[in-house]
Amino acid sequence: MIDADAFREFEHDGWQRAAEHYVDAFGAVTAQAAGPLLDAVAAGSATQLLDVATGPGFVAAEAASRGARVIGVDFSSAMIAAAGRRYHDILFREGDAEALAFDGDTFDAVVMNFGLLHLARPEAALAEAMRVLRPGGRYAFTVWAPPDQAVGFGMVLRAIERCGRLDVGLPEGPPFFRFSNADECRTELGRAGFVGASVRTLPLRWTLSSPDDVYEAISRGGVRTAAILRLQTADAQAAIRAAVRDEAEQHRTADRIVLPMPAVLALGMKPT
Ligand SMILES: C[S@@+](CC[C@H](N)C(=O)[O-])C[C@H]1O[C@@H](n2cnc3c(N)ncnc32)[C@H](O)[C@@H]1O
Repeated sequence: MIDADAFREFEHDGWQRAAEHYVDAFGAVTAQAAGPLLDAVAAGSATQLLDVATGPGFVAAEAASRGARVIGVDFSSAMIAAAGRRYHDILFREGDAEALAFDGDTFDAVVMNFGLLHLARPEAALAEAMRVLRPGGRYAFTVWAPPDQAVGFGMVLRAIERCGRLDVGLPEGPPFFRFSNADECRTELGRAGFVGASVRTLPLRWTLSSPDDVYEAISRGGVRTAAILRLQTADAQAAIRAAVRDEAEQHRTADRIVLPMPAVLALGMKPT
């Protein structure tokens, strides 16, 4: 049984801790989705746009560079501080995706880049996006493709299964890859009242300078898998690290490791 409050608190603590490592760990790959996400919601000059779970503010910053009027919200004060240090001219606020502090019918576009998979109550976030959008407004989110395609996650999860334990007593949350399924995206968008749902895959790539960087990035810059890694025995950690290194090495291109990390981009519209 999911205890949504316990899971939310676990995620919140995790993001407070991960904030200082997140840009180095994942920034170069999650930022690649900003352009397609903003294209999907037709973000342009004067679009009133809300970037939910903004993290270090990549999507908000790209929207602002297109002339959009942007607010970025995130429930982690450490992430909001990091975003504010990177992008001085953008408005960032602490706030919860599941209970947005904005009036209804306020925004032309709402986006969420790799946020939905971290929420205790993703349905509440979809309902909130619907509420704050103007009629005809667009909502788009990204999540990772399943781990057999997003190979950075796949290799770490396989190594944990082989050399350690996945069940380490974390507060249970919704499945990490739930929205990696296109049908699930369409169903939940429809249930929240969105129309014209469409889903596509973005062929993102994660480029790292060393095969050790995969383990480092996931153990420092993430939350759920990071906690699973932290709670292994020292022997299991060493074995997992070595297994991930070996598998990452198979993706070497010249002096770099280049991992396919596709994402799923889902779009829906608030009825007019
Ligand atoms: C994987 S990061 C994505 C950051 C950024 N959007 C990007 O493109 O890289 C997930 C973000 O979701 C935020 N987050 C998780 N749960 C949240 C919630 N309930 N409300 C607001 N932000 C949340 C975290 O603090 C973190 O910054």
